[in-house]
Amino acid sequence: MKFFVDTAEIKDIKELYDTGLLDGVTTNPSLIAKSGRDFKEVVKEICATVPGPVSAEVASLEYDGMIAEGEVLAKLADNVVVKLPLTLNGLKATKTFKERGVKTNVTLCFSANQALLAAKAGATYISPFLGRLDDINLDGVELIENIRQIYDNYQFETQILAASIRSPNHVTQVALAGADVATIPPDVIRKLANHPLTNAGIEGFLKDWKATGQSIL
Ligand code: E4P
Repeated sequence: MKFFVDTAEIKDIKELYDTGLLDGVTTNPSLIAKSGRDFKEVVKEICATVPGPVSAEVASLEYDGMIAEGEVLAKLADNVVVKLPLTLNGLKATKTFKERGVKTNVTLCFSANQALLAAKAGATYISPFLGRLDDINLDGVELIENIRQIYDNYQFETQILAASIRSPNHVTQVALAGADVATIPPDVIRKLANHPLTNAGIEGFLKDWKATGQSIL
């Protein structure tokens, strides 16, 4: 499973990219607003930092506007993926971008039928929002399992990008469900490496090592 980070904060992106664990980045209008920076500038900077796919979302709800905005975003860097909402206009724009060779991420997916439509439209990625379904007591993991089965039934090439991930447990669950990618907030990525028994083990080993009085170098 590939790891994308879900943020527009360059500091976090650089730190995580340096670990060698990061395959790409997703942003959305709320994350851009939170960064307080110019949208196009921040997308260019992210794309120069991470060579993998970087999702940048259109703001228009009309087909013509989506195409015009998506073309501008796609020209910012070779690794831009145009993010489009899961509406009929968004799906129509997805198909147009597929024909033009522009990669797309269809976002705000909350049902298997929506994911089926996105695959038929030729989306590069479909983003089912796990946490927001869990927030209303629906099963986000089950949605990813269903999409996996549907895509496998018909050999769709659209990649399942598990989004709205809120915890390390979500990451395990979407990996088990067969998501191709998980886009994860920076703090959750950091938490994935933590285990209290790892920390306790390191502490014990270091204490015993110091008692030997030896040095490796
Ligand atoms: C995905 O592309 C979205 O940016 C993101 O995962 C949304 O997460 P949220 O539901 O925590 O806002």
